[in-house]
Amino acid sequence: MIVATTIAELKQALKEWRESAPSTARVGFVPTMGFLHEGHASLMRRSKAECEYSVLSIFVNPLQFGPNEDFDRYPRDAERDLALAEANGIDLVFMPSVAEMYPKKPVTKILISEVTERLCGASRPGHFDGVGIVVSKLFHLVQPDRAYFGMKDAQQVAVIERMTEDLNIPVEIVPCETVREADGLALSSRNVYLSQEERAQAVILSQTLKAAETWVKTPGMTKRALSDKIESSIGQASLAEIDYAEILTYPDLEEPDAAADLSDYEGKLIIALAVKFGRTRLIDNRLLELR
Ligand code: PAJ
Repeated sequence: MIVATTIAELKQALKEWRESAPSTARVGFVPTMGFLHEGHASLMRRSKAECEYSVLSIFVNPLQFGPNEDFDRYPRDAERDLALAEANGIDLVFMPSVAEMYPKKPVTKILISEVTERLCGASRPGHFDGVGIVVSKLFHLVQPDRAYFGMKDAQQVAVIERMTEDLNIPVEIVPCETVREADGLALSSRNVYLSQEERAQAVILSQTLKAAETWVKTPGMTKRALSDKIESSIGQASLAEIDYAEILTYPDLEEPDAAADLSDYEGKLIIALAVKFGRTRLIDNRLLELR
């Protein structure tokens, strides 16, 4: 496994591989912010299974963090990450510094509208502009055939899919299933922030989503009634503070008609949650294909 910390090293490694690989060989790419867990590992394994060469990036991107967010305290463990990458079949790791990625403050903006208006786009202003710029830079640098993203961040998948489509970036976006702990909690690098008590209560997100999948099938279920049930379910966890709990169409992320009978909805809906436990904000979601 090659570890590149500069763009020059990354390009050199890709060039050498491309020169010796058959023209049909594919490059798979897994962008991450590190502190890797089984969720990231599942993306790496999928890339390894589907592509001849797999590239992982580890970069905590300052541009996607708000001024009062956790950029400075975001967990980091390069040594462990590299061991996990190697064990999961990664051929090349790109691990640049902030100065390498942003030698100048970028004046070019990637503004993705509409799909960013709700959920994390609304509660973390500027977040997806930061994701958009870093992911487009990484796509241009790595030039992958396929890029693997987790559905745990379903809005991120919708945003990246629209960005690559709108800009004709020649990459196939591959959405991958959310990996969970045994009790249902979605794996996240941020789970390490949780106290024991918060960790125990955090299971309410996946439990509520699972229950909501049944509730939504009740004939006559409206968005309002479902939201009320979801909010009171999360309210059972005394330490939980709801940031958002929304039911939207997927992947357009629009409000379904308020009066609509959701049990009869034609198409995909998403129930998306962001819940704070102390200073830690957790997200989770469930896609519903009702018909
Ligand atoms: P990060 O939070 O490190 O996540 C990297 C990738 O791993 C994302 O595609 C995310 O959806 C996926 N992932 C995280 N938890 C997962 C889980 N439990 N199951 C399956 N996949 C999971 O998302 C980012 O980094 C950044 O925004 C990035 C795209 C790298 C741009 O900076």
